[in-house]
Amino acid sequence: MPPLKLSLLKHGLLCMVMLTCLNTLAQQGRQTIDFDKGWRFNLGAVTDGQLPGLNDAGWRSLNLPHDWSIEGKFSKDNPATPEGGALPGGIGWYRKTFTVPVSSKNKLVYIDFDGVYQKSDVWINGHHLGFRPNGYISFRYELTPYLNFGGKNVIAVKVDNSVQPNSRWYSGSGIYRNVWLVTTNKVAIDHWGTYITTPEVSDASASVNIKVKVKNRAGKKEVFTIKTSVYDATGKVVSAGGFIPSKTELEDTVFETSINLGIKDPHLWSVKQPYLYKVVTQVISEKTIVDTYTTPLGIRYFNFDVDKGFSLNGKPMKILGVCDHHDLGSLGAAINTRALERQLQILKAMGCNGIRTSHNPPAPELLDLCDKMGFIVMDEAFDCWDWKKEKYDYHLFFKEWHKRDLEDQILRDRNHPSVMIWSIGNEIPQQHDTSALRIAPELTRIVHSLDKTRPITAANNNPDTSNKIIKSGAIDLVGYNYHEGEYAKFHDRYPGKKFIATETTSGLETRGYYEMPSDSIRIWPERWDKPFTRPGNNVSAYDNVRPPWGSTHEATWKVMKKYDFLSGMFIWTGFDYLGEPTPYSWPSRSSYFGIVDLAGFPKDVYYMYQSEWTDKPVLHIFPHWNWEPGKTVDVWAYYNHADEVELFLNGKSLGIKKKTGDDLHIMWRVKFEPGILKAISRKDGKVVLTKEIHTAGAPAKIELSADRKSIAADGKDLSFITVKILDKDGYIVPNADNLVNFKINGEAFIASVDNGDPVSHDSFKVNYRKAFHGLALAIVQAKEKAGVINFTATSNGLQSASVVLTTK
Ligand code: GAL
Repeated sequence: MPPLKLSLLKHGLLCMVMLTCLNTLAQQGRQTIDFDKGWRFNLGAVTDGQLPGLNDAGWRSLNLPHDWSIEGKFSKDNPATPEGGALPGGIGWYRKTFTVPVSSKNKLVYIDFDGVYQKSDVWINGHHLGFRPNGYISFRYELTPYLNFGGKNVIAVKVDNSVQPNSRWYSGSGIYRNVWLVTTNKVAIDHWGTYITTPEVSDASASVNIKVKVKNRAGKKEVFTIKTSVYDATGKVVSAGGFIPSKTELEDTVFETSINLGIKDPHLWSVKQPYLYKVVTQVISEKTIVDTYTTPLGIRYFNFDVDKGFSLNGKPMKILGVCDHHDLGSLGAAINTRALERQLQILKAMGCNGIRTSHNPPAPELLDLCDKMGFIVMDEAFDCWDWKKEKYDYHLFFKEWHKRDLEDQILRDRNHPSVMIWSIGNEIPQQHDTSALRIAPELTRIVHSLDKTRPITAANNNPDTSNKIIKSGAIDLVGYNYHEGEYAKFHDRYPGKKFIATETTSGLETRGYYEMPSDSIRIWPERWDKPFTRPGNNVSAYDNVRPPWGSTHEATWKVMKKYDFLSGMFIWTGFDYLGEPTPYSWPSRSSYFGIVDLAGFPKDVYYMYQSEWTDKPVLHIFPHWNWEPGKTVDVWAYYNHADEVELFLNGKSLGIKKKTGDDLHIMWRVKFEPGILKAISRKDGKVVLTKEIHTAGAPAKIELSADRKSIAADGKDLSFITVKILDKDGYIVPNADNLVNFKINGEAFIASVDNGDPVSHDSFKVNYRKAFHGLALAIVQAKEKAGVINFTATSNGLQSASVVLTTK
């Protein structure tokens, strides 16, 4: 039993000493270097690309993370197909020449890849280190025996994404996640070598158990002490303890120990207040700190209840989540922390509190951000097992690699407080086959052998009792994809079982595009395997279009709200993503499922969620007010904190409407006349909010707004600049598609451009973009020198606009 009431007094002195120590020697004994800079890249096969002597001077110089597909041209003939985003794949080679100081001779040196899509081979100085087929897994190689200390070393990486289709969505190609060079002493904490749990948590105290795996590669016996300290968010030590091994350890052995600490009056981690501690573990040998290892800690407890659903820290709540793929829109798959943070900020402002990493392990930065920002994560492993969904997908590697890949995922991710559900697969075709009776239990055994603190689910599109994954009894939470019409009967079907809606909705919308009438549901395509075409490849944004397996946003949320046992949902999807352009195919190349479009501009239904999921007062009316005179237009309003909304056209009341029953919006059917549409929401007769939409005139000027005007001069930070096309009076022109040219001067460059149009085949990597329904986006990336940046947008016949940014 861990000492719940830690004798803070007893440890007070030790804590102070350790704090001083740690402030000066944050990572003592260990060096982790960002290894992203200074690579050479060649697109295409290379004979003997691994040989150190190969002349790569003619190869392109670049910094990682890098996705070569996003730089390519859209074509329906690319082997990825429009489902995969219609961008090219191929083979790519990366090389980096680097030196390692002689002083490292007595150390161990590793290279860590957060993710390479896909089928990577890695060599150091011509020596083959290994092959990893899984494009989403993080992996490490040891370089020590092959290094020239004090001299030149060449790391070479071959990436093979030539054989496609291997994905049902856009994967990207290349070393698209970060790379690290890690140097440790010969006695050091192992890779992913800590495991922290909180076996007992209450408002008064928390017990913290820290398992530490130390490797001794010194070639001789070593005596060492492990010391662990828990720091609160202000950097104060709140608990510390150590372990002195009773015996000396032998060469190359792994030594595992378990330390129990107590924390008084812990700050609990929640989605509203994601309080983070830090656990710093030191290995001390003969009074020298030989290793320092930091692990995040969030103290929380949660429960899935058969009847009451989900609770966090004893408080009932629903997981209001979204599914997202890993691409970052026009930036492609190349991870950028700020781009990911922006996505999460947009979702947070909607009231979203959960992320499903569909359908693969995410970039580690996603979990760091979810820890920090307060999202509950369902961390998913696979989109298929050994039966295929695509001809060349992971089913080819599952047998040989699933154990290793799944173990690595759990080891890497199990210390993140945000992770609360593991998923062993999405819509696995073997739901219908007896092989699932064997594989599902095997996968849960693997997960449970490394972490028993979180439930395991699988995302099932067949919720019927014939489903062999559910039948196997291996999963803790029965996950339904879709089938919201069958939620109510869940306990008739699965008495005593716990529920999670692993995937819901799949509503379809093009931002800013509207068709009347709005109050009938369209099922597009009619059947999943029936091709569907329509001129323009647009989908009306009234939340009334869905595929046959899906449901509208409102229909799904109405059911979710009704029953407590429905612990949570993950909507397909938060953001539009490249690939899977349902209901269309080419010329569409990105999805219509997002609540937010590919550029990060919310669609109207975003405000339905905001009105339901946040306390923020909301009044959102749509569509725009530029129509043919006399046309009948449906005007919708999403609102909250009010009893009623009154709509006026050019000062004349069109009547008061109220939501009744389980309504989530109200609607007026209006004969269009140009002018001003105005809505007023009222509570107890008092005005809460007022919204106006004006009929816009011809495009006259550009307006720019940067999400952040001052960014870090770190070569990575981004400023997202929204471009609006306005009429002469400053009203947005809803159908404007003017071509806008961008110019940038100073210490930054244009990383990509977009407008959210799923049908555009323009490159993302240029300095111009057409507006789409009045909007476009330019993403500006800092260089490494502090300075001033002038960003200008011009367009034929329009008044131009500029914005000044600084990098610090
Ligand atoms: C689901 C699937 C997702 C996506 C979605 C589109 O069945 O799990 O990956 O394809 O459909 O509606």
